[in-house]
Amino acid sequence: MKRKRQRIFLAAGALLAAVALVVVWMNKNRSQMEKSEIIKIGVLIYKEDDTFVSGIVEEMKRQFKDYERENGSRIRLDFSYAEENQSIQNEQIDKYLSLDYDVLCVNLVDRTEAAIVIEKAKAADVPVVFFNREPVAEDLQQWDRLYYVGSDAKESGTLEGLLVADYYQKYPEQLDRNQDGVIQYVLLEGESRHQDSLIRTEYSIQTLVEEGFSLERLDGGIANWVRSQGEALTTQWLREYGSEIELIISNNDDMALGAIDAVENWHVKFSNIVGIDGTPEGLAAVEAGKMIGTIVAGQEEYARVILDLAERMARREALDGLAIREDKSIRVPMYSINSDGEIRRLEEEGNERN
Ligand code: GAL
Repeated sequence: MKRKRQRIFLAAGALLAAVALVVVWMNKNRSQMEKSEIIKIGVLIYKEDDTFVSGIVEEMKRQFKDYERENGSRIRLDFSYAEENQSIQNEQIDKYLSLDYDVLCVNLVDRTEAAIVIEKAKAADVPVVFFNREPVAEDLQQWDRLYYVGSDAKESGTLEGLLVADYYQKYPEQLDRNQDGVIQYVLLEGESRHQDSLIRTEYSIQTLVEEGFSLERLDGGIANWVRSQGEALTTQWLREYGSEIELIISNNDDMALGAIDAVENWHVKFSNIVGIDGTPEGLAAVEAGKMIGTIVAGQEEYARVILDLAERMARREALDGLAIREDKSIRVPMYSINSDGEIRRLEEEGNERN
């Protein structure tokens, strides 16, 4: 009798242990499945041939390959281009949502049209990382699964003004060529509705004024970030103002490169040109002394932050360690570099200008 009871206890114990083992195994398997679940990221770009944005896209693809090599296929990454048409982009968004994508990274065509995109994403409970083309502040506040990644336009404009101011300190006669104590300039602007055009223009000029410069704007015009348009406008100005022009301020590198093309075609020696972006061609022009300098908004860092944020949101992971500001943006740090190879960062100056 005693023996029989012992056997029953033993059998019950063994059964319990087996059940416990199965539960542990199932839990382990479930958490492994969750971790290895493939997430689908849709990236929507406003147009295909924007140099700076293409640099970010190339970086995303490169980092994605590295990631796959290290972690296996845990992410699927797809890109769509909208030919500068917001309706096309909206259709692309519908397509990704109908295919159950887990997160969207959106480089808006029209930054004032974010509400439509947000409405669609929210209805499908798919988070969005906007980047480079910044939605207006109220739109970003519409839902807690929306963020913006971009550089700080005020910072880039300020750094651009400082590039010119520093250049003047070193080479005053090269800037104020007619020695009248006033810098005569022309200004190449990006798209009229883009946050970077308006704010960079304002802060590059304001910084120069704060640095004590007297300025005279000879002319300015919109060249939509495009090199050929920058060249066309600069050619027109060279024809009109000739050697009166002492400085060409550009909202980005591509238009500055267009200005260099114009100057070279005009057969004049002129390199008082500043740009923003730090694209490979922009940096090469700075190094070759064809430009005073540029502002580098690291495309590598841009891509890293976008992908990291997108993956974490899709997996509903915590966002700690990401420098998210109160306005739900993450700002990619930038620095200026001049043709003497000198680098300047605002955060090292205690951000007192920001
Ligand atoms: C700006 C950049 C421009 C252009 C634009 C597109 O930040 O400086 O070169 O790429 O974004 O949205």
